Amino acid sequence: MPFVDKKTLCDEVNRRRTFAIISHPDAGKTTMTEKLLLLGGAIRLAGSVKAKKSKKFATSDWMELEKQRGISVSTSVMNFEYRNYICNLLDTPGHQDFSEDTYRTLAAADAAIMLIDAAKGVEPQTIKLFEVCKLRGIPIFTFVNKLDREARDPLELMHEIESVLGIPTYPMSWPVSSGERFRGIIERETKSLHYFEGRNTTTETAARVIPLSDKEQISSLVPEDLLQEALESLEMLEMAGDDFSHEKFLKGELSPVFFGAAMTNFGVRLFLEKFLEMSPSPSAKGSSQGKIDPLSSEFSGFIFKIQANMDPKHRDRIAFLRIVSGVYEAGVNVTIPRLNREIRLTHPQQFFAQDRSTLDRAFAGDVVGIYDPGFFSIGDSLVEGGNFEFEGIPSFAPENFAVVRTTSALKRKQLLKGLVQLCQEGTVQMFVDESRAASDPVLAAVGSLQFDVLLFRLKNEYNVDCALDNLVFKHARWTNASSEEIAEAKSKTDVVTVRDMQGNYLFLFKNDFALSYFQENCPKISLFKSNSTL
Ligand code: G4P
Repeated sequence: MPFVDKKTLCDEVNRRRTFAIISHPDAGKTTMTEKLLLLGGAIRLAGSVKAKKSKKFATSDWMELEKQRGISVSTSVMNFEYRNYICNLLDTPGHQDFSEDTYRTLAAADAAIMLIDAAKGVEPQTIKLFEVCKLRGIPIFTFVNKLDREARDPLELMHEIESVLGIPTYPMSWPVSSGERFRGIIERETKSLHYFEGRNTTTETAARVIPLSDKEQISSLVPEDLLQEALESLEMLEMAGDDFSHEKFLKGELSPVFFGAAMTNFGVRLFLEKFLEMSPSPSAKGSSQGKIDPLSSEFSGFIFKIQANMDPKHRDRIAFLRIVSGVYEAGVNVTIPRLNREIRLTHPQQFFAQDRSTLDRAFAGDVVGIYDPGFFSIGDSLVEGGNFEFEGIPSFAPENFAVVRTTSALKRKQLLKGLVQLCQEGTVQMFVDESRAASDPVLAAVGSLQFDVLLFRLKNEYNVDCALDNLVFKHARWTNASSEEIAEAKSKTDVVTVRDMQGNYLFLFKNDFALSYFQENCPKISLFKSNSTL
């Protein structure tokens, strides 16, 4: 452990915020990310995030696939400082077929920002990602975006969040109308209007803040009917709602809500400041030896993402490590308990989108990249001076299944090597069907585009041309039932069983009907959509 006194360690950990933005595609995640980076001074011009992405697509060969399809497959981390805070913003792929990547990224986040399009409300991908945050019990802030366009009634939106997602909300601000008539937001705490002046999309200017008590100025800016409407809704909230509970928020049981229009930079600064103030600094994480305190002097962390070919010239693999405790400096010796292997780490690397830089040291909450010689797997723990493993990173029920068919029997070995490595990276999941040969695994993915990435990479990186035969299954569910119970269930239904790489059993179902038939006929068997609940 390098010498860092307790106070420095404590200060460094307390000022870190590690979070991700979850949303349905098109709700404005890229736009919001960009505005946050602008506020943090990490970029200077709006448009940089997208420009950077498209420039990099051209230099990375397997990401060519993303370019062809116009989607983002990769996940990266962006760091910026705001006031005294160090922010680690975990970026997640926008396309829903890569939601497995997002699920894993959420394992490294201490809080999430849920972005909602004010005209569309809660959308399918929002629901899926919200469920993952809920499973982890992380605090969730809500930002209702695009108020500069015609929006749905905000009370109706709050009701939808509460009824569809099952989380109570606490609006911190409230919009004064929307679209052409949008005049800004009322901040409840300070009882003031943040006035919306117009559409400034490139630079950030502080909004004019006017106390509601300054009736003269307010009425010169806001038509009476719009103001009344907003104040009446606020009064209803005051009457019906409970007080804000920070404790409930930290447990993921209450979501503070902000309104704004990210594209026009409106409402973002207020949101960021409250978010940083209220969201948690890195906290203790569960392991096989109990909770590991971020202030523990020993360094530890876990790998939540592996990305190959960040630099196609070197064909390297980078493992993204979330630091849980201690200080990471070059030369630290760590154990990888899964492999019972000790390694010496070199300088931590930090990534900004696809660019990398070397850091002197990193603390709990930080996400750093380390060179992967090919033996890391997602979920691996790296521990200095100890031998424990962090709680695993969950896998989620796939909906697409296939077996691989290679055109050349001579390439079988190369194919298996590729499949194992790509599964370690989490490109797809691999199951063993005991009725098939071990070299003939069932491949499974949450989104079908993951299969396209697999084939593309097998060809480009492992030189194996192959095709996939899709299997007819639609649902997979993990189970903790005993072998006897599983055998009995198989005799009653035509369910198929496979095992994951950890040896856990899953049932595969052909359709919704088969799943409900099974549940009716085998009521004692518990089924799980994720392996985290086993
Ligand atoms: P995503 O990453 O969640 O998929 O969304 P993204 O930020 O790319 O935003 C989707 C579209 O919504 C973009 O328009 C973006 O400009 C627009 N948008 C985001 N925030 C706001 C907002 O606060 N108000 C309004 N009116 N629009 C917003 P686009 O036409 O698809 O792309 P672009 O040509 O503007 O980049």
